[in-house]
Amino acid sequence: MSTIVSPSVLSADFANLERDVKMLNSSEAEWLHIDIMDGQFVPNISFGLPVMKAIHKHATKPLDVHLMIATPDDYISEFKDAGAEILTVHYETCTHLHRTLQRIKSEGMKTGVALNPHTPVDLLKDIIHDIDLVLIMSVNPGFGGQKFIPQAVQKVAAIKSIINEAGAKTLIEVDGGVNLDTGKQLVEAGADALVAGSFVFGSENPVETISKLKVL
Ligand code: DX5
Ligand code: ZN
Repeated sequence: MSTIVSPSVLSADFANLERDVKMLNSSEAEWLHIDIMDGQFVPNISFGLPVMKAIHKHATKPLDVHLMIATPDDYISEFKDAGAEILTVHYETCTHLHRTLQRIKSEGMKTGVALNPHTPVDLLKDIIHDIDLVLIMSVNPGFGGQKFIPQAVQKVAAIKSIINEAGAKTLIEVDGGVNLDTGKQLVEAGADALVAGSFVFGSENPVETISKLKVL
């Protein structure tokens, strides 16, 4: 089975977004990873709904949207309208996570839950059947191009056991510092999907780099 690759548009050339999105369309990437940052939950601001809509207009692949915002509950239908197919919220921002996931589902999107590096995977045990995608952060969210935190590999293995024991169909995605080396460790530990930003866009041939990640 091949790995799902979700290149992070955060590392694209924002002055040439149409060109970069079309490049991703022509690649073996399964999804496009969209990082939304609000300067509150994370110490950085990326881009918002109008830019995401512009990406959606040109993208031929599902948008895998990673909300790094303090109040995701306030914007669920807005992100649906902007073209999100998978909507991932951070565990750390949702007091009533079960309700949030039901709302995402009722809008017709797939549900995702992201965990910061310090948040234990066990916290998702009782809700695993409601989650389509668990996003394990292998850096502290907020910036592209950071160093991989190796404990993420054990977290992938641990959440994989929880998923298997529950007989759930939840996919595991990992985000931050992914390259061929860290990507291989993650896939061996049970990751189904890899997000990669700087590794893809910083390479000489991004289309080829995506193909290499896909066969890990
Ligand atoms: C970090 C973002 C990532 C980021 C990954 O907060 O969630 O998606 O774009 O970038 P790289 O692959 O460069 O670590
Ligand atoms: Zn992300």
